Amino acid sequence: MALIVWDQKLETGHGKIDEQHKSLVEIINRLHGAMKQGKGKDELGGILVFLKDYTVSHFAMEEQLMAQHSYSGAVQHKAIHAALVMQVADLVDQFQQGKATLTLPVMNFLEDWLVKHIQGEDYKFALELRGKGVH
Ligand SMILES: [Fe+2]
Ligand SMILES: [Fe+2]
Repeated sequence: MALIVWDQKLETGHGKIDEQHKSLVEIINRLHGAMKQGKGKDELGGILVFLKDYTVSHFAMEEQLMAQHSYSGAVQHKAIHAALVMQVADLVDQFQQGKATLTLPVMNFLEDWLVKHIQGEDYKFALELRGKGVH
C-alpha cells in the first residue's frame, strides 16, 4: 500500500499547487516502494535527489505566486520553505555519505514533512488566494 494516500484532506483548492503536491506525494510513495523492495543505494539516492529538486522548484512556484498576489504570510511561509529544503538536503547528504539509511521512520518523517506543510502553510496560502478570486 502507498505510504501517502491522496485525498481531500490534502487539497488546498488551488489547481497548480494541488497538481504539484500530487507529484510530491507520488515521489515519496515511489521512494517508499523502492525502499520496501530493497532497492540499492543508487536507485534510492536518485529518487531522493529528484524529491529534493522537485521540492525546490515547487517552492519557487509557490513563492512566485506569493509575490504576484502580495500574500500577507509570505515572509513566514518562505522561511518555512527554506527550513524544509535544508531538512531534505541534509537527508540527501547523510544518505549519500552512507550515514543514513532509508527506514520506515525516515519515510514517516518525509510524510510528516510534506503533509503538515500542505495542511498548514499551503492551506492558509490557498485560502487567501481564494479570497482574492485566485484558484
Ligand atoms: Fe506546497
Ligand atoms: Fe509551501
